Amino acid sequence: MADIDFKGKVAIVTGAGAGLGKTYALELAKRGCKVVVNDLGGARDGSGASHGPAQDVVDEIKKAGGEAAPNYDNVATIEGGQGIVKTAVDAFGKVDIVINNAGILRDKSFLKMEPDLWDLVIAVHLRGAYCVTQPAFAIMKEQNFGRVVLTTSGAGLYGNFGQTNYCSAKMGLVGLMNALKIEGAKYNIKVNTIAPVAASRLTEDVMPPEFFAKLKPEFVTPLVTYLASEANQDSGYIFNCGMGWYSRSAIVMGNGALIGDGSRDIKAEEIRDNWKKITDLSGAKEVGSVQDTFGAMLPLIQK
Ligand code: NAI
Repeated sequence: MADIDFKGKVAIVTGAGAGLGKTYALELAKRGCKVVVNDLGGARDGSGASHGPAQDVVDEIKKAGGEAAPNYDNVATIEGGQGIVKTAVDAFGKVDIVINNAGILRDKSFLKMEPDLWDLVIAVHLRGAYCVTQPAFAIMKEQNFGRVVLTTSGAGLYGNFGQTNYCSAKMGLVGLMNALKIEGAKYNIKVNTIAPVAASRLTEDVMPPEFFAKLKPEFVTPLVTYLASEANQDSGYIFNCGMGWYSRSAIVMGNGALIGDGSRDIKAEEIRDNWKKITDLSGAKEVGSVQDTFGAMLPLIQK
């Protein structure tokens, strides 16, 4: 099969001045993509700003013969999102791919989770994906092609101490994907989500050093590259990836228990008595949309 290439394609990578985003930008550019390298250039907790990181990555791409434009906007604002998309349109005429990757951390246990810690983390991860993707989606819809990659986290999908803000934002992105995969379906806009594990400034103090040393961000890059390509025809998937391990996660629905006849009252005791059946996930299935969950209640509607 032919190599995956991005000739004629334009990508936005947010937070591409460092870490994972930088590897995506470099790889896409190497494969012929024109890349908007967005990065606010702040600290790990989202404070401060600098043009340095985005500009350095653009210089590196250009030096290697690729095409790239820098953008220093904050993803968490409407103006920032519009500015990022405008950079793509002004420099390269369109947007085909958005990789929502920018992120920060402000960890604290729940009772110490002050509003500023909560709000900024939700803003950068969740509002940021909305602010950047919405103006890009308008262009994708018009051209009948788009690839969107969102970045969740194992912390959000499965839980982690001290990250109620981050976990909420990261699960919110799964919700964004679930709706957008449906809205984008008829315009050939595929939306997928990754949960990476990689060495970066976000993870340097949370992982054992021997683990950290082996977790090259470049191991995540091939999955993102594939998801961003025309070759990928799947949408609405969540992927775990790190160090060469790639797997899919999904929200599934158990078969559950049908109690009552659809009209009589149901008692709490009946919930207790059916607890095993209600909580059983054997035979659980993926669900494509909320409408697909209604089927389980059909026997009661028909009664
Ligand atoms: P990183 O800190 O190396 O890179 C994030 C980049 O985003 C930074 O260059 C930063 O300046 C930029 N950024 C932050 N706020 C921004 C804003 N408001 N506007 C524009 N740019 C902004 O971190 P890393 O590890 O590369 O993280 C990338 C993404 O992957 C994040 O969304 C993170 O939550 C996610 N992730 C990373 C994991 C890991 O193991 N490294 C684990 C799970 C998720």
